[in-house]
Amino acid sequence: MIDMVSIIEKKKAGQALADEEIRGFVAGVTDGSIPDYQTSALLMAICFQGMDRRETFCLTDAMLHSGQTMDLHEIKGIKVDKHSTGGVGDKTTLIVAPIAAACGVPIAKMSGRGLGFTGGTIDKLESIPGFRVQLTPEEFLETVETAGMSVVGQTHDVAPADKKLYALRDVTGTVNNISLIASSIMSKKLASGSDAIVLDVKCGQGSFNKTQKAAEDLGRLMVDIGTDAGKKVVAVVTDMDQPLGDAVGNSLEVIEAIDTLKGKGPRDMTELALTLSGYMIYCGQKASSPEEGRRKAEEALTSGKALDVFRRFVTMQGGNAACVDDIGIFKQPLYKAEAKASGSGYVAGIKADSIGLASQHLGAGRKTKEDAIDLSAGILLLKKVGDPVEAGEPVAVLFSDDEEKLAAGLAEAGSAYTFCAEKPETPVLIKEIIE
Ligand code: URA
Repeated sequence: MIDMVSIIEKKKAGQALADEEIRGFVAGVTDGSIPDYQTSALLMAICFQGMDRRETFCLTDAMLHSGQTMDLHEIKGIKVDKHSTGGVGDKTTLIVAPIAAACGVPIAKMSGRGLGFTGGTIDKLESIPGFRVQLTPEEFLETVETAGMSVVGQTHDVAPADKKLYALRDVTGTVNNISLIASSIMSKKLASGSDAIVLDVKCGQGSFNKTQKAAEDLGRLMVDIGTDAGKKVVAVVTDMDQPLGDAVGNSLEVIEAIDTLKGKGPRDMTELALTLSGYMIYCGQKASSPEEGRRKAEEALTSGKALDVFRRFVTMQGGNAACVDDIGIFKQPLYKAEAKASGSGYVAGIKADSIGLASQHLGAGRKTKEDAIDLSAGILLLKKVGDPVEAGEPVAVLFSDDEEKLAAGLAEAGSAYTFCAEKPETPVLIKEIIE
């Protein structure tokens, strides 16, 4: 039995914890023998004093082994996973997974639900009528074998220590520490059983990494953790100052993902998808360089092969794949309203966090884990940073099933836009690639 008081004191004094202390702590969190107040005190001490690389690697390894690890060996080929640290309008998985699968890279992926102002892939997929996010292990493997990809909800058995720690961090102001974030993300990714991982590390207003430096440090640490565990890991640091693409909200984002798979997506969304899927194809050894991976990704889009994979994947998971050709299949929102420009000239900025919050007000996101969401609620951005605009012109259209929610969303979305007289520089989308 570990002595939690002395471990807390040790970390409070800025000393490194021994491996047995970290493993004992994670075991105690998992079996419930350590009370939440002691866990919270240690988390806060870690936030103030930090952890070195050895401690961070050990914490990741202990959390990764706190539950079940997925065995994907029955699936032939190099399995590649992808993870985003979370953003607004981030429907990238729905595009890169079919592209990579169309190029022969098997994708067997677990994803999460949205919380707060960031969305989750599982909620987005549930906006497709009939789509099942819980499959039996046999169905999961069969979908990957037949369709080339499968995406399912995170099971409770994967990294249960992280689940408990994350819930406590969320309510004790201890989310934002690089070692806690890196170990949390990587323990789940390593437990998910893929051979390689491409990480999309967001930075800017709509991310918990407010600066590029913070995102780069996190990306580098996660690459080191994954490499140490014997996986190929690449981190791509990308912009999340303004929302990604034009659509924010569950069914709206699926529709935009389908448009992108048809080669008709917004420029930033298409560019990010090609970069990330290029790396996924390269990591899956279906291309000899990321550049060749990108060329193959482009071919998968133009040939329609990626869209075919998407149709097969949706069908095999019980969804109505007719949604690819008929957006009327998605639930339609009852009300809509336009947000109007308060200035003339150019769009100087669109605060991603405000758009995320506005989307949450509309009913597209959850304030607590128990909240139900409105799958058709959301926002279509008509103007992005650098676009010319006249005062009073619509900059975004908002959708909701509830008029009060629509009004709350409209107030928040209106404040997200800023304007300037001179054309601003085009934001850099891909900021850094860490291999
Ligand atoms: N996402 C996670 O899974 N964990 C964190 O700590 C932060 C973001």
